[in-house]
Amino acid sequence: MSASKRKKLLAGNWKMNIRLAEVEPFFTAFSDVLKAGQSDHVDILFAAPFTQLNATLAASRARGFAVGAQNMHFEASGAFTGEVSAAMLTDIGVRTTLVGHSERRQYFAESDEAVAKKTVTALANAITPVVCVGETLEERKSGATFQVVSRQLETVFKAVKNHGPLANREAFYPGDLTDSIVIAYEPVWAIGTGLSATLEQAQEVHGFIRKVCGDIFGAEFSFRLRILYGGSANLANIAGLLAQPDIDGGLVGGASLKPADFATMCNAAKR
Ligand code: 13P
Repeated sequence: MSASKRKKLLAGNWKMNIRLAEVEPFFTAFSDVLKAGQSDHVDILFAAPFTQLNATLAASRARGFAVGAQNMHFEASGAFTGEVSAAMLTDIGVRTTLVGHSERRQYFAESDEAVAKKTVTALANAITPVVCVGETLEERKSGATFQVVSRQLETVFKAVKNHGPLANREAFYPGDLTDSIVIAYEPVWAIGTGLSATLEQAQEVHGFIRKVCGDIFGAEFSFRLRILYGGSANLANIAGLLAQPDIDGGLVGGASLKPADFATMCNAAKR
């Protein structure tokens, strides 16, 4: 099996955007541009704000797209004002969530340990965690990129390893992801800045992530792992990114808010 056999995954991270009234028009416009049969080449995921999840599920499930949350708490229940549990997500049919997005780490003080606990809780609840890692500009400038990414990854992978085996899970709904875990490399300096990593910079870190994963879980698992790139991914750079051997898709912020642009990006994916 060659590396190109991993199916591409394009994930839109809507962040704190898209009002309820915009959801259905978004999917109409998106589906108008998405090529027929493109789901053979690419899985498509929308990470929506909590309050928009039901509407996003309703609009996307019939069309075969997956829906994810952007965050989740690691405890099962209790006095955690403002938080949402894994079971609350599965109650409404959400089977994927972002974990450890740099905006959560930066603005909400999420530690590597909290990200690891969330990952373990997601797996225990048959939710696919899309675990985000990436270095800041200062860290890149000081040559600490690999050190930072390996620290972030190893904290998560070791917690997962102690928790039990990683198994791919069954699909519950049309378009659902069945990956046990997905990793997203998002260099913080490239997020929302219009300054994407170069293809070489992105591929270099993706290859490194696959190696770190292989060291802990073995070559077979790391070969199957889908690793997404995020950070100013757009219409102009997506094809080049997807052509890299270890880049299996994108986690797209700003460009995913424009349905025609995001559909065009999905059209660029080839198996
Ligand atoms: P942008 O695509 O807007 O840079 O955001 C990337 C991101 O944070 C996706 O999670």
